[in-house]
Amino acid sequence: MTIRVLTGITTTGTPHLGNYAGAIRPAVRASEQPGVDAFFFLADYHALIKCDDPARVARSRLEIAATWLAVGLDPERVTFYRQSDIPETTELCWFLTCVTAKGLMNRAHAYKAAVDQNEAKGVEPDDGVTMGLFSYPVLMAADILLFNAHKVPVGRDQVQHLEMARDIAQRFNHLYQGDFFVLPEVQVEEEVATLPGLDGRKMSKSYNNTIPLFEGGAKALRGAISRIVTDSRQPGEPKDAEASHLFTLYRAFAQPDEVAAFRRELETGLGWGDAKQILGDRLERDIAPMREKYNELMANPARIEDILQAGASKARKLASPLMARLRDAVGLRTLSAGPAAGKGAGKKAAKDARFVSFRDTDGSFRFRLLAADGEELLLSDSHADPKAAGALMRRLQQADVQLREQADGVEILLEGAVVARGPGQADKVRQALDSLRQE
Ligand code: TRP
Repeated sequence: MTIRVLTGITTTGTPHLGNYAGAIRPAVRASEQPGVDAFFFLADYHALIKCDDPARVARSRLEIAATWLAVGLDPERVTFYRQSDIPETTELCWFLTCVTAKGLMNRAHAYKAAVDQNEAKGVEPDDGVTMGLFSYPVLMAADILLFNAHKVPVGRDQVQHLEMARDIAQRFNHLYQGDFFVLPEVQVEEEVATLPGLDGRKMSKSYNNTIPLFEGGAKALRGAISRIVTDSRQPGEPKDAEASHLFTLYRAFAQPDEVAAFRRELETGLGWGDAKQILGDRLERDIAPMREKYNELMANPARIEDILQAGASKARKLASPLMARLRDAVGLRTLSAGPAAGKGAGKKAAKDARFVSFRDTDGSFRFRLLAADGEELLLSDSHADPKAAGALMRRLQQADVQLREQADGVEILLEGAVVARGPGQADKVRQALDSLRQE
């Protein structure tokens, strides 16, 4: 079985070395494993929650896309897209918003932290809190559930959001009586490096202690390394490798034998200046070739745009049929489909075989026949006119429909012409159509 792995990257900053070692590199490697169907996206709707500087959002999307491609993400293999190119995300977000308890959102860490800060400042608890921030976890749940991801690799700070996504998914499945959503599992990489920044605290933009990955080129990388804090031991004095941030950074990039050699040198008196030189050389070895690709990509944004558009269309092929199913489940159905599709409240309708109409990615109108358990029985041809699709749907509920069994499924004919096809057995299709006729 293939495992669908999905993760999003908020586009508010420029990736630094800590992002690379802690998130980007392991994600790209994981995407290369057999049996993994990886989805990576730029969470640019999320960016709007944190950042109202359009130039920064725009620049960050470009830089982050270029970074992921430069470090070796294969967009042929991975579905790589921008959240904002998938309008189904916002539609699903609304459906989920309508089943999410406000109380659940009250407990979200990010929101609670904002309230705590406000209380400490003595201002209104919700001062400066937007609905975007408050419902952040719902949007994130939509990202994940839209593609029925099994595993979601994230940082520890996101674990609660995954719990919320499961919670919301379960609630929707339960309310509308279907297995619409897979319950996603969080994946926190335990052994992945959390890199120390220049001052030894966790490398983070908010501490202003980052080492750039590509920005500023080799010079900026060396410059940052020269500013890494060390203790005051002189050349010749033994150093405590484990306690040294330089060593931790080196270890995140080097092979075990290189690491052992570096440790020995530090312990036998290597000076900090030389140690920084060695660290810089080692980082350059990995980073220089990627930087070259990055610069190439940054000089050619149209190419990145094409790659992202192709990714979006791949993603929407999955998102749009799911949304069609969800629209039907919640009762947002076409009125022209006749009594079957329009009948019954959620729970009842979900137990019967049913037609579900949808708009395909090319803009045409189609429908599916689903069995009571949600199995797809038929897929109609495309119709430019939604009324034609609706009329055909009604027509299929009359008794004179012809079914033809094929080696690989079943075809439905009207007046000798095939109008819909399905992967399964004719019996099941016949039964489902019969059950619709009896209603
Ligand atoms: N909230 C995530 C972060 O800040 C980014 C994100 C948005 C995400 N949507 C997601 C991560 C969906 C995983 C899955 O890191």
